[in-house]
Amino acid sequence: MSEVVKHIKHITEGHSPVKALRKLADLFPGEVIFSTSFGWEDQVISHMIFNNDLPIKVFTLETGRLFPETYYTWNRTLEMYGKPIHAYYPQHETLEAMVNTKGPNSFYESVENRKECCNIRKIEPLSRALAGNKCWITGIRAEQSPNRQFMEPVEWDESNQMVKFHPIYSWTLEEVKTYINVNNIPYNPLHDRGFPSIGCAPCTRAVQPGEDFRAGRWWWEDQSKKECGLHVTNN
Ligand code: ADX
Ligand code: SF4
Repeated sequence: MSEVVKHIKHITEGHSPVKALRKLADLFPGEVIFSTSFGWEDQVISHMIFNNDLPIKVFTLETGRLFPETYYTWNRTLEMYGKPIHAYYPQHETLEAMVNTKGPNSFYESVENRKECCNIRKIEPLSRALAGNKCWITGIRAEQSPNRQFMEPVEWDESNQMVKFHPIYSWTLEEVKTYINVNNIPYNPLHDRGFPSIGCAPCTRAVQPGEDFRAGRWWWEDQSKKECGLHVTNN
């Protein structure tokens, strides 16, 4: 484990998410950044950052294929807190080349095509968003998938060469919902319609009661292939 990960574990362990975020912002002034997809977990973290004026930048990856409800939640969040949320878009040349060659829905045809689309719409913009920062904050929780149970709240991200911190990693969904209700935080209305995990519209569907949190993401693919590459782990 790298020294920096050890140090961050040491200074954040046992603290509330807000206190831990503040410590990270102090340690890396101007170099801590939070990615939001406007899902439940991310709305909790945005609230913590905005409501406490934490000096942490907030950005979203605007893939161009988000649900109308996600844009609505984004806008409500801007109205509520009056704080900036920076949108990163795909490079238009590569996006145009892909769509003009393969059509707008090539991701259903093969895993390769799906990864190509995720690379163009998410991964390349992500690398621009993260550039120049030392610490990346996400809304990942252990409970979200079998894979995520083996992650840690503090990790070294080999692909982006930076520390990743998941401030509500150990929270249950019930805790997330309670925090949202108690603090009157705006959230994506799709969550009340069977969508526990929300990504791009053509690649996300509702799940049945009892189904896995992420069963509605890229549902036509094998379980083992279902990550878009934003969060690559060594596990
Ligand atoms: S994904 O890898 O399957 O897409 P998921 O939807 O579970 O990820 O979200 C996990 C975390 O990744 C979120 O809490 C957020 O920090 C980040 N994330 C996911 N999608 C986006 C997006 N479109 N823009 C910014 N951050 C995102
Ligand atoms: Fe493309 Fe679907 Fe990936 Fe969104 S989730 S970037 S639409 S393949």
